[in-house]
Amino acid sequence: MSQRIPVAVLGATGTVGQKFVRLLAEHPWFEVAAVAASSASAGRTYAEATRWREPVPMPPEIGRLTVQECVPPSPGPIVFSALEAEVAGPIEQAFAASGAIVVTNTRTHRMDPDVPLLIPEVNEDHLSLVDCQQQSRGWEGAILANPNCSTAALALALAPLHRAFTIERLFVSTMQAISGAGYPGVASLDIVGNVIPFIAGEEEKIELESRKILGTLASGAIESSDFSLSVHANRVPVVDGHMATVSVELRRKADVAQAIEALRAFRGSPRVCQLPSSPIPPIEVDERIDRPQSRLDADRGAGMAVSVGRVRPCPVLDLRMVVLGHNTVRGAAGQAVQIAELLVADGRVDRAAGRSR
Ligand SMILES: NC(=O)c1ccc[n+]([C@@H]2O[C@H](COP(=O)([O-])OP(=O)(O)OC[C@H]3O[C@@H](n4cnc5c(N)ncnc54)[C@H](OP(=O)(O)O)[C@@H]3O)[C@@H](O)[C@H]2O)c1
Repeated sequence: MSQRIPVAVLGATGTVGQKFVRLLAEHPWFEVAAVAASSASAGRTYAEATRWREPVPMPPEIGRLTVQECVPPSPGPIVFSALEAEVAGPIEQAFAASGAIVVTNTRTHRMDPDVPLLIPEVNEDHLSLVDCQQQSRGWEGAILANPNCSTAALALALAPLHRAFTIERLFVSTMQAISGAGYPGVASLDIVGNVIPFIAGEEEKIELESRKILGTLASGAIESSDFSLSVHANRVPVVDGHMATVSVELRRKADVAQAIEALRAFRGSPRVCQLPSSPIPPIEVDERIDRPQSRLDADRGAGMAVSVGRVRPCPVLDLRMVVLGHNTVRGAAGQAVQIAELLVADGRVDRAAGRSR
């Protein structure tokens, strides 16, 4: 691609927004042309407005941009949203109505029947929901959503098992990092040396979103998978990386070796494998007895690979395993960028740019 595609980042000053800025600064296809946040940040340079938390220097060319208010038009066909969920709905809709393709990390539109909730390796075919959305809403642009940060890793790890053996029931306990709560997030006095067995709305999101992602598209609508899922969500004193311990019952029985083979062999379609942000393999099975671990394994595949370990028999259901994913990369900005790459590969960004010219 000779010229990079201009993109905007909404909520660019926050935890996920900063991850977007870091990932996009060196992206081969995209270039950050606008950063936007609340009116408290608008009008200042990005460097002045942002409490930069990434462990690499802020890209200087982005630090010099002036933070905008979150109002259309966007300088290019793609808008990434990392907005506070409470304010995201009308803002994202306004950008979509103005002709932009919005790839959002917020929960607001994820369960809308006409919004694709995408993990490119898993449900690339759900992308065609965008056509129904544009028709029914009369938009030139569109909204596509990223799953919740725990769901992104969990549903990717479940996909090969569901495809090969069909999941009937599962129990999931999460151990979620502090960065999942944004900045400044959970007060240090609440989380240091502590575990908090509650994250508002999280269990419901994981249950609903996993079934939608692993559901089937027929006649322009998603039919969610019908497995039953019980989730316990916990906040733990870890900086990055959401872990989940999983017990799963399968319709067609599989032993440990068959499950590991399915997980290791799993790949997206050939065109998804060729996207710049796609890790190969998307799932890394680690058979060491005490892995994966949050600090040691969350960055695998530049944060885009999901680690699975401790695959073993379960005395209550069929199999047990541990799943780990990076919550702000695979669970947020990295996967949103991968979705935008898929939109480019599908020819949808050219069409959006053509309409807005
Ligand atoms: N953290 C994660 O691991 C993660 C993972 C997946 C999804 N998400 C979702 O991604 C979104 C962002 O999360 P985060 O963790 O990055 O949160 P955050 O650190 O609190 O950042 C929130 C961002 O929203 C902006 N904002 C707040 N109120 C606004 C308003 N009225 N108008 C315009 N912008 C406004 C903030 O701008 P100012 O700096 O100007 O206030 C900031 O840029 C949330 O919806 C969250 O649920 C987070």
